[in-house]
Amino acid sequence: MSGAGIDLTPAEREQLGRAALEWALRYFTEQSQLPVYPTIGASELTARLSTTLPNDPQDPATVLADFDEVARFGRHNGHPRMFGYVQSSGSFAGVVADLLASAINQNVTSWRSAPAAATIEHQVIEWLKMMVGFDPEGEGILLSGGSFANFAGLAAALRASTDVDLNQRGVAALPGRPRIYTSEMTHMSMPKAASMLGLGKDAIVRIPVDRDLRMDPDALRRQIDSDRGSGLHPVCVVATAGDVNTGAIDPLDAIADTCADMGLWLHVDGSYGALAAQSGFVNGAMAALGRADSLSLDPHKWLYAPLDTGCLLVKDPAALRRAFSEGAGYIDVVADRQMSEFAYWDYSPELSRRFRALKIWFVLKIHGVRAIQQAIDGNIAVARHLGETIDTSDDFERLAPVPLSIVCFRYRGGDRSLQSPEQLDQFNKRLMVEVQRDGESYISNATINGRFALRACIVNFRTTHADAARLLASIRRVAARMA
Ligand SMILES: Cc1ncc(COP(=O)(O)O)c(C=O)c1O
Repeated sequence: MSGAGIDLTPAEREQLGRAALEWALRYFTEQSQLPVYPTIGASELTARLSTTLPNDPQDPATVLADFDEVARFGRHNGHPRMFGYVQSSGSFAGVVADLLASAINQNVTSWRSAPAAATIEHQVIEWLKMMVGFDPEGEGILLSGGSFANFAGLAAALRASTDVDLNQRGVAALPGRPRIYTSEMTHMSMPKAASMLGLGKDAIVRIPVDRDLRMDPDALRRQIDSDRGSGLHPVCVVATAGDVNTGAIDPLDAIADTCADMGLWLHVDGSYGALAAQSGFVNGAMAALGRADSLSLDPHKWLYAPLDTGCLLVKDPAALRRAFSEGAGYIDVVADRQMSEFAYWDYSPELSRRFRALKIWFVLKIHGVRAIQQAIDGNIAVARHLGETIDTSDDFERLAPVPLSIVCFRYRGGDRSLQSPEQLDQFNKRLMVEVQRDGESYISNATINGRFALRACIVNFRTTHADAARLLASIRRVAARMA
């Protein structure tokens, strides 16, 4: 070891670097053979992983061996039978980009701080706009994920809704009680954003949905009319392009018409679904994404990039600037050209920012858009087939349509032995936990029309029809054990 110095010697760097790369390569080969979820309790894990503050240096090989335990006792999100959530399956191209981004350790606060990285981020935003059909004149920023992108989109919408200087005077100066309209199925990041913006969760107005769990545009229009009549302050409408419960895509065109008529900002939460906009399965249901004033989308979901990469696109970046620009003497920029004047801190809540764009750049360049779109189509095809299999099974029941790649269903028991809604809810709740503990497949849940549903999400390029069949087999096997 290099004594009191922090830098490893070239030989130590090489040894650690090669060992870590070999570890990652092995993990990528073997992860599909691991149990998806570890069977260990919190106190046992704490006892296993906790150590005293390491005052003295340790052998890097020992540290890597400790890391092996950390990895083993995680949930393996890239596992082909990780059906639990709409989240990141992590391609290797993105892993390599993350390593390289940390190696060059650019702080992408502005063009001046990271000229090439800022240029690549700009390039990646242009590509993402094209992939989802966003306004070519729009701009965008990368953030940690969909939740933060939704927060930033709402912050921009709020500034666009009034001439009041909210940065100075705060939301108490709004001309009326604020209203944000979104579907009953909206993601939890919406009330959270309303609360973080100081508007309060009461500002969220949940518009009823139709039979397919899509926002009812007529109910939306009536609600806005009535609120305006009562002196309330409509801030924006949030439509969802791929809801987290079922994948429902709100009627974007009709909602955009309402926003245009009423002079309201349209934010679309496409964190999960937007990157499927061009899929033949979607049949144009997201063609109106280009009408949004702001759009959230998550390359760490359907671009298969590793965490964390969220993105907010905005038609008019001035609103973002109104929300986040905060001049400070120590960050003055001496600039000569427009791009070189650009500072992310004027458009984002963050100052220090890692080089997130690099993994998107790597994934898109190494695989190409066509392969990504084929993988998305493949995910949707697996989900549709799973839905059809459930429809023809006696012991399962589908609870929602499958517009994208989420299937909500429940187990009904052999001979449909589970009958009452309460019995079905109770059994399926226990079943989900037991399937998670079993480790062959991982599944989560959603609430559909007030009832408990098992939810299988397919956003992993490794998941095949055979994996979906094995999920149903796991559920049946575990249910038989519980009976
Ligand atoms: C529709 C929707 N919005 C927002 C989010 C939040 O995204 P993130 O987990 O990247 O913050 C998700 C996550 O699944 C989502 O599906």
